[in-house]
Parts: sequence; C-alpha cells; structure tokens
Amino acid sequence: MGKKLYIETYGCQMNVADSEVVVSIMAGSGYTSTDEINEAELILINTCSIRDNAEQRIWGRLTAMSHLKKKNRNLKIGVIGCMAERLKEKLLETEKLVDIVVGPDAYRELPGLVAEAESGHKAVNVLLSREETYADISPVRMDKNGVSSFVSIMRGCNNMCAYCVVPYVRGAERSRNTESIISEAKELFDSGYREVTLLGQNVDSYNFESGSRTINFSDLLEEVSGIDPLLRVRFSTSHPKDISDDLLRTIARHDNICKHIHLPAQSGSSRILELMNRGYTREWYMDRVSAIRSIIPDCSLSTDMITGFCSETDDEHRDSLSLMEWAGFDFAYMFKYSERPGTRAARKYSDDIPEEVKSVRLSEMISLQNKLSARSKRQDLGKVVEVLAEGFSKRSKEHMSGRTSQNKVVVFPAEEVRKGDYASVVIERCTSATLLGKLTF
Ligand code: 5AD
Ligand code: SF4
Repeated sequence: MGKKLYIETYGCQMNVADSEVVVSIMAGSGYTSTDEINEAELILINTCSIRDNAEQRIWGRLTAMSHLKKKNRNLKIGVIGCMAERLKEKLLETEKLVDIVVGPDAYRELPGLVAEAESGHKAVNVLLSREETYADISPVRMDKNGVSSFVSIMRGCNNMCAYCVVPYVRGAERSRNTESIISEAKELFDSGYREVTLLGQNVDSYNFESGSRTINFSDLLEEVSGIDPLLRVRFSTSHPKDISDDLLRTIARHDNICKHIHLPAQSGSSRILELMNRGYTREWYMDRVSAIRSIIPDCSLSTDMITGFCSETDDEHRDSLSLMEWAGFDFAYMFKYSERPGTRAARKYSDDIPEEVKSVRLSEMISLQNKLSARSKRQDLGKVVEVLAEGFSKRSKEHMSGRTSQNKVVVFPAEEVRKGDYASVVIERCTSATLLGKLTF
C-alpha cells in the first residue's frame, strides 16, 4: 500500500499547483496521498508568507497538530513553500514539532529529506534555483471536479514591488518549456478536463527560447487555445505594466480564451504606485483598462487592492476608491497592508498608517466593491451565457454549478447536463455571489 501522505495547502493557486507536483514526486518514493490526516505518516504543509495573518494561521495549524505526534510517534511533519523559504532553519528552532523544511525550488529533494527525517535527523533544503520549473513532472491532480485544472507556466518573480515577499521566497523569474506546457494541457484535455488556468506571478513576461524561436505569452495562449475548441483557457496574473494590445487581440480572437482579466491595480494613486515600485501610474492603468474595453468589449475585470500602504493619505485612499469606481471591477481581492520583513518597504518606509485607519479604509473599499459586484451581476440579468458545468451545486443535486467565460458563477437546474458539458443558460436572478438561470436551447 505504501506510506500515506497528507498535504495541506495555503496561499495562492501557484501553491495548489505546487502541491500537485509534490504529491507526484512523493508518489515516486512510495507515498500515496490521503484525505484523512489521522492515517498519515507524513504531513506536509504548503505555506504562504504574503501577509502576516497568512503566517499566523499556519502557526496556529502547527500547534493544533501537536496531538497527532503524541498519537503516532513515527509521524513526520514538514513545512514547505514560501514560509519555509522565508524562515529557513528558524522554523525548526521556533517549532520543535517540525521535522522537515523545504523551499519552493527544492521539492525534488523531498524524498531524500523525508528519509533523513525518518532516521531521526531534522532536514532542511531552502536553496532557490534559476532553472527549476518542474517541467518534466506530471502533477497528481487533487482538484475534485475533474473539469478545471491549473498549469504552472513560470516560477518566481522579478518585479520587486516594494511590499512583496514573493521575489525573496520564490526567487527569480523563469519560464517553463513551452512543449511541456502544451503536452500537460493536452493530457488534461484527453482525460476529460475542459478548462486550464495558466499560472505565473506575471504571465505577461512569459518568454521561452525554443531553437531560433522566442515564444511570448500571446504565442503560448494561442497554442494552448489551439489544442481543442472545447478546452477553455484562463490565465493569472497579468501585470498592468506589461499587458500588451497584442495579447488583448489574441484573447479577443479565440472564443475559448476566457474573457476575464485579473489585473491587480494595488492603488489608484500615482504617488503610492511609485512608492510601491509598480512601474505604472494611475493614468497608465486607466489606459490599459480602456484598451481592454475596446479590444475585448465583453471582458470582465478583477483586481487586487492594498489599503493603508506606507504614508497613504485620505486623499490617496479616495484615489483608490475612484479608480475602482471608474474601472467598475466585477470582483476584487482587498487587503490591509502588512509589512513583510526584508522587503524594500520594510527597509525604507515606515508602516505608519494606524491599524484602525487601515480597517476603516478597507471596509470602505469592501462596501464599494460590493456595490460594483452587485451591479456587474445585475447587468447579466436576461443575458444568455455559455456555462462550463463543474459539478452539482453545493445545495442540491438537482442543480449544476459552473462558470461563464467572464468567470461568474452560475447555478441552473441540471436536467441532462453533466459536468464537463457546456450549457446555454439564460440568467433570471442573482444573489450576492451567484447568477441563477435556466437552460435555453
Ligand atoms: N500586504 C498586503 N497585501 C499584499 N499583497 C502582496 N503583498 C502584500 C502585503 N505585504 C497582495 C497584493 C497582491 C496579492 C496577491 O496580495 O494585492 O496582488
Ligand atoms: Fe503564493 Fe505569494 Fe503566498 Fe507564496 S507568498 S503562497 S507566492 S501568495
């Protein structure tokens, strides 16, 4: 039967994709993954460091796991991913429970490190790499629906946004071999998947030299979309400084490239954007949104925003709100600024916006976004949309749930529709998070 591995994943989609690589690597040395933590001989926690509260949650989880070690003295616990990279050996000192610490570029070494831990030694590898993309590893899919999956196309980040820990914990940017991406997406399609999401910290800077040819992100998207018209292609994350009209035209040209762009603005104030080292101004961001609107008129738009960055004034906060209002985002992830040790902002600026002010600004932002999201859904009432069915809705086996090309969730009576099918649905009602409709032919 082999040994049992339980893996728990925090953070972004990139980490979800990495956990699938890790399960594949561990399968090579006889580990099968389990959903039952109590039967595991090895627990791996794939961690996130993006904000302090992400790390606090993981500390809490580790403490909660201490009773498992008392029950099973052979149990080994490993912390992997971004927090492992950030804290390195310090993690072992602070948390005695942990046996293994492995950074995002050292997963191939995991079997050896686990063996070392089994022989009673603590094991650490946090070396970052300039080349590692795990291109040749076939991830073991852990998504439950069998319809949509992530495909990692690049690793690391070179952008050096002042607030961000990612370049430190994930290393320099490198693009994965195009052929290996295409063949992974093809395999997914052949085994029944109908949607792939191409993942990278900044997909717009994808760049792979293949013989005399240089493949950029627009070329890659085109190639993946060419696998089959029934395969939907999504991608994340785009960067406002790099998203080109050429890419927008590629998206517009292909029906199966989803009409949704996640374009993190972070702030609506040019001064704050400069301090953040984002590489664009408010006006540049607005120009990119206008380009999206004119080249892909039916495109939906989502964003990430940070409130209370160092020295942000009330006026500058209002600039963020007015940008959101102007852009009319369909969806947004909004965060209070959290200082990360070692980043440029931590070294150079003071985290001087009081917690209460950050909270007030964040709640203003959330209530504005709630209005924008509601408006975005209301605009869909009466429309006929194409939905890729992902499975039964949470509430009932008589209803299916899926998403539109614009990434909006739609629930509709299942009738004959099976997961993986495309359904034509007319939207009749909406709740705060979901569109509701019925099949139409
Ligand atoms: N504090 C708050 N939010 C952050 N993000 C990244 N770093 C920080 C930080 N130090 C947010 C950004 C990014 C998203 C993934 O997380 O909005 O786009
Ligand atoms: Fe993902 Fe960044 Fe969190 Fe790492 S730190 S898991 S890259 S969000």
